[in-house]
Amino acid sequence: MSVGTNRVMMCAPTSYRLEYEINPWMRLENRPDTGLAAKQWDLLYEVLKTRAGAEIELIPQVEGCPDMVFTANAGLVKGDIALLASFRHPQRALEEPHFDRWFKEHGYTVHTPPQGCKFEGEGDALFAGSNLVAGYLKRSDICSHRWMADMLSTTVLSLELVDDRWYHLDTCLLPLSRNRVAFYPGAFDEYAQTVIRHHYETIDVELEEALRFACNAVVVGDTVVLPSGCPKLEADLQECGYSTINVEMSEFLKSGGASKCLTLLLN
Ligand code: ARG
Repeated sequence: MSVGTNRVMMCAPTSYRLEYEINPWMRLENRPDTGLAAKQWDLLYEVLKTRAGAEIELIPQVEGCPDMVFTANAGLVKGDIALLASFRHPQRALEEPHFDRWFKEHGYTVHTPPQGCKFEGEGDALFAGSNLVAGYLKRSDICSHRWMADMLSTTVLSLELVDDRWYHLDTCLLPLSRNRVAFYPGAFDEYAQTVIRHHYETIDVELEEALRFACNAVVVGDTVVLPSGCPKLEADLQECGYSTINVEMSEFLKSGGASKCLTLLLN
């Protein structure tokens, strides 16, 4: 029933810090408690591994790349192909060579986006049924959609993101099965909402829970690991037959990320 994969790549927060502001959640005067962040990450790792049954690959965090923990943005992986990110912000572009090396060392064929075309990996591209669902405007450029379609021989549903708070697709849309997604409508333009409802059965996420990054969840088999404080989505998921596990992600939310951002699915 689910679209979950059980292999993911993660990066332990050994140099995680807040050193710049590149999304509305990041404020230099509200820096994460790094000790607490490490505990929250460890718990997420344990839950994914032992309770959800995920197989976890690790990449070491590089000093000077404080957001590298958000491995979902490293690229988009399908089989042995890795489409490498080309980050919008120069602060994060420093991560690219490290992810590039990791992919190559792990046997992936790496492709880079066309010149000048920004692409933030799985942050903005998620498989759902026979489609790749992809966001654009805030971080990834629409040119990356055509490129992904060509590289992976897949259809892409292009969705415009309209609210800076949900600057990546994975902050506001969660694929659950071949034909079902959860999403926060307010993050999308009217037409994108129509496209989503046309292709999938939907669970609508409310503003209050969308602000807690409810959609930023990891699906492993029939288990959904989501940020804490989202009881309505949890209840909706349980009604659809999923087991849910919530994890406290407060110190990562301060950088505009949560459970899903901390994992890259190795499909
Ligand atoms: N501070 C990071 C950024 O703004 C957070 C990335 C979150 N990742 C995600 N997949 N949504 O780029």
